[in-house]
Amino acid sequence: MTEDKLLYTGKAKNVYQAENDDEVLIVYKDQATALNGKKKEHLPGKGTLDCQISALVFDYLIKNGIKTHLVKNISDHEQLVKKTTVFPLEVVLRNITSGSLVRKFQIEEGQHLAEPIIEFYYKSDALDDPFINESQIHALGVADKTELEYIKQMTVKVNDLLVPFFAQSDFDLVDFKLEFGKINNEIILVDEFSPDNCRIWDKTSHHSMDKDVFRKHEADLVETYRQVLQRLTTR
Ligand code: C5P
Repeated sequence: MTEDKLLYTGKAKNVYQAENDDEVLIVYKDQATALNGKKKEHLPGKGTLDCQISALVFDYLIKNGIKTHLVKNISDHEQLVKKTTVFPLEVVLRNITSGSLVRKFQIEEGQHLAEPIIEFYYKSDALDDPFINESQIHALGVADKTELEYIKQMTVKVNDLLVPFFAQSDFDLVDFKLEFGKINNEIILVDEFSPDNCRIWDKTSHHSMDKDVFRKHEADLVETYRQVLQRLTTR
């Protein structure tokens, strides 16, 4: 892929213009970052695992009626996707207390919430993705009321599908982050769904099987992701 086609370089992926004007090529990188890029490591094999896990999850969501940007996997670390206008929003859904929620409210980790929490963050590396509330989202023109309601409904639907999907492989889906884009007046799921942007815990041991192993130096990230892919594919 020639560098003149490079549209965007992110922490975990590069995005290139594809042959068709309305499609882009995502190339997953062998790189892990934490603390908004302050901690960075080259990890051979990671990009392939993220790409394959995300394709598995997206295929399952598509089969169950969720519209996504995924067109097809081109190789084990490259995906062709539809070009969309991406909302500068990170939508986080939490089923179990962990991470920033625990730090912010000084509550116990691992509590199953009576109903999921949805939070929004404004996507900006320069600002460290600040928390944004619904009226700020409307007033600042990030998304209108109808769009935001639809995004929330889709997020809940994704959760309803993925909790049993991960439970089948003996994982608790603790929380995750989604992103959405708009194409031809339709809102669809974009970005990826991998252990980089969700928390999954082994149901028995409660051990993390996601990027927390890298953030907290608990285990080898590539080996952990390899186990996740194996458990999702052999069941
Ligand atoms: O850190 P926090 O507890 O708020 O993260 C909630 C979820 O969102 C986690 O699964 C985390 O991996 C994901 N996340 C993400 N990208 C960010 C922030 C959080 O994928 N920039």
